[in-house]
Amino acid sequence: MLLKVDHLEKIYNKNKENPVLALKDISFSVIQGEFVAIMGESGSGKTTLLNILAMLDEASRGNIYLEEKNISQLKDQEKAAFRRRELGYVFQQFNLLDQLTVQDNILLPLVLMGVKARDFDQPLERVVGKLGIGDLLKKYPYQISGGQGQRVAIARALITNPKLILADEPTGALDSKTSEDLLHYFSIINNQGQTILMVTHSAKAASVASRVLFIKDGKIFHQIYKGDETRSAFINRINNAMAVTLGGGSFD
Ligand SMILES: Nc1ncnc2c1ncn2[C@@H]1O[C@H](COP(=O)(O)OP(=O)(O)OP(=O)(O)O)[C@@H](O)[C@H]1O
Ligand SMILES: [Mg+2]
Repeated sequence: MLLKVDHLEKIYNKNKENPVLALKDISFSVIQGEFVAIMGESGSGKTTLLNILAMLDEASRGNIYLEEKNISQLKDQEKAAFRRRELGYVFQQFNLLDQLTVQDNILLPLVLMGVKARDFDQPLERVVGKLGIGDLLKKYPYQISGGQGQRVAIARALITNPKLILADEPTGALDSKTSEDLLHYFSIINNQGQTILMVTHSAKAASVASRVLFIKDGKIFHQIYKGDETRSAFINRINNAMAVTLGGGSFD
């Protein structure tokens, strides 16, 4: 088991006037090499969950294990190092730094980890080749397109060879052609063994995953596996499951 999420609960504004119970009781596991999509209506807790998994926020209750290691119990300093080494993120607004070249943006996680400059070449070559961004390296983020920016963001997320990639609406800011390109790159890195957890609103995006989890009211409501179904058949099944999730129905 790569990731185990165990009875996670999140209350924003705890002990204040207006507490928000964003995650009630979330438990699920992800095995090495899986590509899992998370869907649910706006406000259902998807970003909250992802931010906690990304160690950018803390749960109010519950535990997260990455390869048996309880990462919810790490001290702050250990946490930062662990996050940099083991996790990669891709966000909707890909957060590239405009004052750095594409290459320096990609290398930033290694710099933050204290890796020596002489050890940059090999990981750089690995991700640049994978994502076909060799001719962008000397450019600045404002000189490249949205889709190229998103590929650079994936390269940056992959540069440390993380155990898990976390993505929150990675196609959210992209048009449909560019979204398909991005999903294609996600499929490629997943086929090469990269484990991915991706939040998305889009059934089309979710359909490249091998499993889709549906969140409702801060709980896992349902999940479906792709199996050997075609992508379009899986999209239909995702849409149906989403309709049941949004409506008051139940699967049992
Ligand atoms: N910092 C915060 N303080 C208080 N409440 C918050 C905070 N962040 C999120 N919430 C609330 O927690 C709930 C879950 O929000 P979250 O952002 O996780 O939803 P989401 O599923 O990602 O929605 P969307 O699809 O719109 O991105 C919502 O009710 C939201 O208003
Ligand atoms: Mg969100």
